[in-house]
Amino acid sequence: MSSLRTARAIFVSSALLGCDATIEPERRDIGATDASRDDAMGDVTASDTAHPATSPTWWQDVRPLISQHCAGCHSAGLVGPFALDTFADTRGKLAAIAAAVRTRTMPPWMPLAGCQEFRHARALTDAQIETLTQWANSGGPEGDPARPAAIAPVSRPSLEAPRRISLPSAYVPDFTALPTNADDYRCFVIEAPTTQTMYLTGYDLEPGVRAMVHHANLFAVPPASVAALNQSPNGYSCFGGAGLSSARTIGVWVPGTPPARYPERTGIEIVAGSALVVQMHYYRFDPRAAAPPPDRSTFLLELTATSPPRLGQLVGPGVSGFTVPARTRGHVVTGTWMTPSAGTLWGVLPHMHKLGRRIRVTLGDTCAVDVPSWDFHWQQAFFFDQPGGISVRAGMRSTVTCEYDNPRDVPVSAGEGSDQEMCGAPFYFTAE
Ligand code: HEC
Repeated sequence: MSSLRTARAIFVSSALLGCDATIEPERRDIGATDASRDDAMGDVTASDTAHPATSPTWWQDVRPLISQHCAGCHSAGLVGPFALDTFADTRGKLAAIAAAVRTRTMPPWMPLAGCQEFRHARALTDAQIETLTQWANSGGPEGDPARPAAIAPVSRPSLEAPRRISLPSAYVPDFTALPTNADDYRCFVIEAPTTQTMYLTGYDLEPGVRAMVHHANLFAVPPASVAALNQSPNGYSCFGGAGLSSARTIGVWVPGTPPARYPERTGIEIVAGSALVVQMHYYRFDPRAAAPPPDRSTFLLELTATSPPRLGQLVGPGVSGFTVPARTRGHVVTGTWMTPSAGTLWGVLPHMHKLGRRIRVTLGDTCAVDVPSWDFHWQQAFFFDQPGGISVRAGMRSTVTCEYDNPRDVPVSAGEGSDQEMCGAPFYFTAE
């Protein structure tokens, strides 16, 4: 914490001195060439005399940041509740933007820094937060539209010959189903039994109505349980999972992320005769919004019939059968897991429901992930940013610690229901 504060203090004083040393690396991040960087600074000084020379401007500093870190969700028709496409859009949200980035609620990214580095991390750097804050504090100056700073191109890895699997029918979410008056969790059986064993190596989702699809989870249901599934084309209500304890999570999609690829030469087995279930989380930001349109989202699955050299499994510490007592704050539940064999841990998927406040996972003495402010809305898998993953021996201990606040007058039990809680953190694990 103190080092964060120091970094900010240094930034502020160098900005006051008119020295842009601290914003330099950030400008390089967004892909501006040296020439455009120099030009931009020159222009800000020359043309924007109403503001201090170092005050960030829309065209020179803010637009590339918003475009790279916010527009993936805050563009017309996407899941963000408003667009940040233009100067006017963004300027109209100055205070909200400053507050959201300062508290690190936006962009949504839950893991605490300093534990592990993760692939596709969305957190802004301190310098980027400072740029947006200073821009807001100086009233959101426009700068010179004739000399915009370059916007880094977004590179999206593509899936190889993905199979497209759509929801069985167009579904109109029922936002009155839950007390939030804003959410509907709906499960659909999207593929009747597969005829041959396949391996999932990557996936993506094409939301039907992007503005409504907050996240989507994919499950494989083993053949023995397929008969128990509700195969209605309109799906069934479900919250924490697919509603069947035998269902295994095989993919988790959140908006604004590139197609998911399991680490190289690994994949998840879907045995012949399994069914796939997709859980959609539909969401509306404004409870007074008009009736929702029907959604028919499509999962893109990269499947292969040949087994990859290493099979991935989602296994790890979890706790069942616990109760969060009524009217408690900071109730702690812990669970442990031992690595079943030597192998590799590639990522981790922390999971709680809405009363969860904090979740931490350790591996031996190492921090695997630490989420200090849990937000059920933004749960996702976090893949370690290490080329070979984390190597483990057999019998290494991993611990998950979940903390809950239960303001209700009734105790809350463990389970998949929206009025129940969960505590778990499966790893994406491959045996040696
Ligand atoms: C991954 C998608 C995503 C990204 C990236 C994203 N947002 Fe959001 N934003 C949302 C959604 C969805 C909401 C609605 C609230 C929620 O679900 O958390 C939201 C809400 C907001 C709000 C309303 C206040 C609040 O905290 O609820 C502000 C302001 C905001 N975003 C600003 C930004 C800015 C600025 C960036 C980039 C620095 C950004 N967002 C990046 C999806 C995103």
